[in-house]
Amino acid sequence: MGKGSGYGKVILFGEHFVVHGVPGIVSATDAKTDAEVRKIPQGITIKDDRKGSKGYAEEKKLQQIESIERMLKIMGLPQTTAMSIWLGGDLPGFSGLGASAASSVAIARAIAEEFTLHFSDEQINQIAYEAEKAYAGNPSGIDNTAATFGGLLWFQKNMRGGSDIFEKILIKKPVEIIIASTGIVANTKAMVEGVAQRKKANPEKYNPLFKQAEELAFAGKKALLNFDLKKVGELMNENHRLLQEIEVSCKELDYLVDVARREGALGAKLTGGGGGGCMTALTPGMDLQEKVASTIEKEGFQVLRTKIGVQKL
Ligand code: PMV
Repeated sequence: MGKGSGYGKVILFGEHFVVHGVPGIVSATDAKTDAEVRKIPQGITIKDDRKGSKGYAEEKKLQQIESIERMLKIMGLPQTTAMSIWLGGDLPGFSGLGASAASSVAIARAIAEEFTLHFSDEQINQIAYEAEKAYAGNPSGIDNTAATFGGLLWFQKNMRGGSDIFEKILIKKPVEIIIASTGIVANTKAMVEGVAQRKKANPEKYNPLFKQAEELAFAGKKALLNFDLKKVGELMNENHRLLQEIEVSCKELDYLVDVARREGALGAKLTGGGGGGCMTALTPGMDLQEKVASTIEKEGFQVLRTKIGVQKL
C-alpha cells in the first residue's frame, strides 16, 4: 500500500487575480487530506471518507476521475493502471479550502509510493497542477503549491509557462483564523472563466481593480512580516471589497463576513473561488477565534478553526 498527504489552504490575498499573474498570499491549513493507494487486478475504485459538505464528493466525482487520468499520464503510468484509492484525513471537503489540490497531492504521493516511483516535491507539485486542471480549468497553481509545500507562501504564477515563483513568508508566530463554509458547493472553473470574460469585456473597470489587488498583495506581505495584524485585517477587508467588485462574492459570503467582523475579527473575506465556498476571518488568540467561530456555528454554518504561519505541520 502507498500513502500520501496534502495540506489544505486558505488564500489570504489575491484569489482570482493570481490566475492572471498578480501575486497572492496563501497559507496551508494544519488540516490535511490523506490518501492510500493499493494495486488491484482491474479498474479504479475510490472510497471517499473525507468529512464535510455532503454534496461535495458527489458533485466533484467526474472532475476527480479526469484528474486521476491526468495524473497517470504525466506520471508515465498507463491509463489502464488498476488501483483502489481511499481518501480521508481531517480536512473538510468544503469548497474554497483547496480540497481538490490537497487530494491530488495526497493521491500523487500515494501512487508514487505504491508504484515505487521517485518524485521530488517539485515533481509532485507539477503532477498536482496537471490534476487541478480537471477541477479549475486554468488554475494559477497556488492551491497545489500550498498543498505540496505547506507554510505561509508568497505566490506568483509564471505567465510565460515556466516554474511559478513562490517563497515562504516567515512570521513571528502562528495566528488563529477561522474558515466558515457557506455550505454551497461552488464551481471554481465557472467562477474563474466568468472573471476572465468580464475582464476582457470591461477592461476600464477591471484593469484598475487588478492593479489594486497587486498593491494589496505587497502591502499584505509587508504587514505580515511586521506582524501588524490590525493592518493585515484591514487589507483582508479591502481584498473582499475587490472580490465583490469582480462579482465573485455572494450574499451568503457577505453575510458571514459581516458576522465575523461584528464579532471582532480583525478582517474577513471570502477565500478561494467564491460563489459559495468559504469565508475566512483573522481572529488572533484562541478566545477571539472561539467567539467568532461559535457565533457562526450557532447560525448553522460549519467552521474550521486553524492557524496561518505554521511552518512545520
Ligand atoms: O476554490 P478553490 O479552493 O479551488 O480556490 C480557487 C482559487 C482561484 O484563485 C479562484 C483559482 C486559482 O487557480 O488560483
